[in-house]
Amino acid sequence: MKNEIVRCKCVDMSVDGHGIARAGDLVIFVKGMIKGEEADVKIISEKKNYSFGIIDKLIDPSPYRIESDCPISYKCGGCDYRYIDYDYQLLLKKEVLINTFRDFEVNDIIEDDHPNHYRNKVQIPVRDGKMGFYRKFSNDIVEFDDCKIESIKANQIIKDLKSLLIGKKIDKYFRHILIKHAQGTDEIMLGYIVNNFDLDLNDINEFIINKYLNIRSIILNLNDRDTNVILGYKEKLLYGRDFIYDIYDGIKVKISLKSFYQVNYGQMLKLYAKIRELADLKGNETILDLYCGIGTISLYLARYARNVIGVEIVDQAIINAKDNAKINNINNVSFICADASKGMDEYIKDKDIVVVDPPRKGISKELIDTFIRLKTEKIIYVSCNPATLNRDLLLLKDHYHISSIQPVDMFPYTTHVETVTLLSRKS
Ligand SMILES: C[S@@+](CC[C@H](N)C(=O)[O-])C[C@H]1O[C@@H](n2cnc3c(N)ncnc32)[C@H](O)[C@@H]1O
Repeated sequence: MKNEIVRCKCVDMSVDGHGIARAGDLVIFVKGMIKGEEADVKIISEKKNYSFGIIDKLIDPSPYRIESDCPISYKCGGCDYRYIDYDYQLLLKKEVLINTFRDFEVNDIIEDDHPNHYRNKVQIPVRDGKMGFYRKFSNDIVEFDDCKIESIKANQIIKDLKSLLIGKKIDKYFRHILIKHAQGTDEIMLGYIVNNFDLDLNDINEFIINKYLNIRSIILNLNDRDTNVILGYKEKLLYGRDFIYDIYDGIKVKISLKSFYQVNYGQMLKLYAKIRELADLKGNETILDLYCGIGTISLYLARYARNVIGVEIVDQAIINAKDNAKINNINNVSFICADASKGMDEYIKDKDIVVVDPPRKGISKELIDTFIRLKTEKIIYVSCNPATLNRDLLLLKDHYHISSIQPVDMFPYTTHVETVTLLSRKS
């Protein structure tokens, strides 16, 4: 019953990082509880078959419990695993994946050697006179000084912007601050997402540009719609260029405000190396890179293959991708702005390898049917959502060998995990 305190044992972890505790027949999802722990838990809400609870008193703590080094980790919902030893997080993530992929083998996770301050893209909501992260499952803002997973420079800029903006008359026009910090070049892009385009931000910009010498771009983005989508359509360049450069594995790339770029640079390099290993290129392959973003995987693989075509829906990303091919003198790639979920027959039909790296919703049934119908020999499926990957693999498994799923810890201290999987057509 609500508010009752029950002694229970945590027997597993849920996909979203709750401890799954049992007390007799009662199943309780407990935030902040670790597998193996015993605790007195206060029930805070009840559903038909399970309840949610919070730890009232920890009776037997896990040997892998550590002191969270972030004062807001229990509120902001970014680092669900901040209180768990890093190596043990990797084991827990693997166990959650094993529970998800019941028909497939899961390899050990490729760990991050530097699991703090890895995020190169930071999006901070501004509302109600505050700048910070959303409290989990809420629109309340939790303010912070030093986020442990974000770029250190982004943290410093956010701190300065907070004192320059908050409490001043213009803060009500701001919706988000977006910072991209390229780790390979140290270049920084600052985006102000506002609901009023006529703001005088000269003093603020001057302060930031003088203090942070690697700021290469400041962009005003207008979003006056009532929507959860962060970026609006209209942009005004306030300083520098409308892109920043990064360099990975010797390839120089342009990144715009709206284009996707992997958030963890070090792990991105490991992911791409794994994709190349799975592709096992001999130099004469034709490759299709669906959901290609700014073309990072296409350019990476093109150096070892006959040619690559990249497909992406965001036009700004495709403009970047085409420029990126030119800048690097990589002439055996081309890029197309299109919806990769439909009408891909023409591009898929003569390819030796198709790489897919879709957003969380996974790939479409139409795309799956096309692979099967056109007998695509090799598919390399990069995924940030195990649930949709499992759904798609189950639809493909009668036609493809799936030897194992390779996780990459792209998002340390959170419950999220990236995976890459090779599918080889059964003869
Ligand atoms: C997870 S990102 C992968 C980007 C790229 N492969 C990389 O490693 O940086 C997914 C990309 O798919 C794009 N996208 C989303 N829906 C799409 C669709 N229906 N068709 C094509 N691209 C889409 C997004 O804009 C984003 O760039």
